[in-house]
Amino acid sequence: KPAEAPAAAPAAEEGPIKIGGIYPLSGAIATFGQSSKKALDLAFEEINANGGLLGRKVEFVLEDNKSTQADSATAAQKLTQQDKVVAILGAVASSNSLAAAPIAQEAKVPMVSSSSTNPAVTEVGEYIFRAAFIDPFQGQVMANFASKDLKAMKAAIMTDANSDYSIGLANVFKDVFTKNGGTIVSEVSFVSGDTDFNAILTTVKNSAPDVVFVPSYYDTVGLILNQAKNNVGFLENVVFLGGDGWDSPALFELAGDAANGHYFSNHYSPDVDSPEVDKFIEAFKAKYNETPDALAALAYDTAYMVFEAIKTAGSADSTAIRDALTKIELKAVTGTIKLNEKRDPVKSAVVIKIEDGKQKYFTTVNP
Ligand code: PHE
Repeated sequence: KPAEAPAAAPAAEEGPIKIGGIYPLSGAIATFGQSSKKALDLAFEEINANGGLLGRKVEFVLEDNKSTQADSATAAQKLTQQDKVVAILGAVASSNSLAAAPIAQEAKVPMVSSSSTNPAVTEVGEYIFRAAFIDPFQGQVMANFASKDLKAMKAAIMTDANSDYSIGLANVFKDVFTKNGGTIVSEVSFVSGDTDFNAILTTVKNSAPDVVFVPSYYDTVGLILNQAKNNVGFLENVVFLGGDGWDSPALFELAGDAANGHYFSNHYSPDVDSPEVDKFIEAFKAKYNETPDALAALAYDTAYMVFEAIKTAGSADSTAIRDALTKIELKAVTGTIKLNEKRDPVKSAVVIKIEDGKQKYFTTVNP
C-alpha cells in the first residue's frame, strides 16, 4: 500500500449525492405534489440523519412541473444537464412522466415514477422505473368490482381526453367489464380545466347506467360528483367508480356529500397495518400531524428504492443505480417492491369506499 494519502476523488464523487424530483407542487393536481413532497422531505431527512449514503450527504433537488407536460420536460432537462443529478424521482401524472422520461432515458439518468400507472411510462426505456402498479391491473380490479361485487350490468364511462392515464384506464375497464358480460351504455369525454359537466352528465343519466366509471383526477371528479347530484340529480341508485386519481382531500371539498357511497382503487390504505405502514404513519404524523395518503406512501417508497439501489450498487453512478434498481427487493409501505422485466412492480390494490367524507378501506385485491 502506498504510504501517502490517496489522490483526491474525482469531482463527481465529492460532496452530496444529488437526487432530483419532478412533482406537481402547483397547478391542477397540486395536492398530489404537495403530499408527495412531504413524504420525500421526510425520507431525505431520515437518510441524512442515518449518515447519508456511501458516507456522503444526500441532497434533494425538487422541481415544480406545475402539473404540466411542458414544465415536466423542462425540469428533466435542468436536472440532468445543469444539476447533474444521479437519479430522478417522479412525476405523478402519467402524461407528465411521459414528457420527462425520454429526456432522462437519453441522458442515461434513472427515473423512478412514484405514482404514474400508464404502462407506456416504463416502456420509454431501460432507465425508466416505477413504484406503482399499472393500469391494466387497476382497471381490471374496478371492472371486476363493478361486475362481481356490485352486480352491475350497465356502465357509463367519462374520460379526460387529454390524459394518457384516463384514456388507458377507461380502455381497460371497458374491455374487462364487457368480457364480464356487461354493456357500456355511454362514453363521454371532457378535459382537465373544464368546470361545467352538466351536458355530458345528462347524456350519462339518459343512458341509465348502474355504475359510472370516471378515471380522472380529483379536480374534475370532485366537480363531476357535485354536479351529478346537485344539478343533474341522479346519484340515488348509481355508483360512481374511479382509480387512484381520486385520492385527495380536495375531492371532498369539491364534491361535498355527493362523494359519499362511491368507490375507487388505490395503492395503500392507512387502515391496513403492516410494520412498514405503521412506522411510516408514525414518522409522518410526528412531522406533519396528519395521516399520509397514497401519494405520500408511494413517494416515500420511491425515495427508498433509489437509496437502496445506491447502497447495494455501492456507487452513485447513474448506470450502476439503474442496474441495482432492476434487482431491488424492498419491503415498502405500499407492499413488497420487486420489479418485473418491464421495470414495473407487481403489487396489490385496495378498494376504498367514501363514507362521511372520509376514505374507508373496503377490500384488498391481489394480482
Ligand atoms: N396513477 C396516476 C397517473 O398515472 C397518478 C396518481 C397516482 C394520482 C396515485 C393519484 C394517486 O396519472
